[in-house]
Amino acid sequence: MVTLTFIQHSGEQHVVKTPTGLTVMEVARDNNIPGIDADCGGACACSTCHVYVDPSWIGKLPPKEEMEADLLDFAHEPNPETSRLTCQIEVTDVLDGLIVRIPVQQG
Ligand code: FES
Repeated sequence: MVTLTFIQHSGEQHVVKTPTGLTVMEVARDNNIPGIDADCGGACACSTCHVYVDPSWIGKLPPKEEMEADLLDFAHEPNPETSRLTCQIEVTDVLDGLIVRIPVQQG
């Protein structure tokens, strides 16, 4: 099990424990985290699963595929350094402790 922390724009934190193998979006959905709507179901086609990854974790994530990078251009106020689509991040042991922030527009 690994621990993920989702932080709403209000500062409210949701700490969840999850097995590996799911995507961060699936973990958010399964735990009713507000603000991760995931309208396309994880097909990398909607950007409603956008988050800002805590800067200390950026280097531990696998790099963005081109499709994710392209779609992030359509997210609201993407940050070139920290924005990611949670449906494209698989939860692995390396990500134990990951912290992501949900954009205000999704909160
Ligand atoms: Fe639609 Fe991630 S769920 S892009």
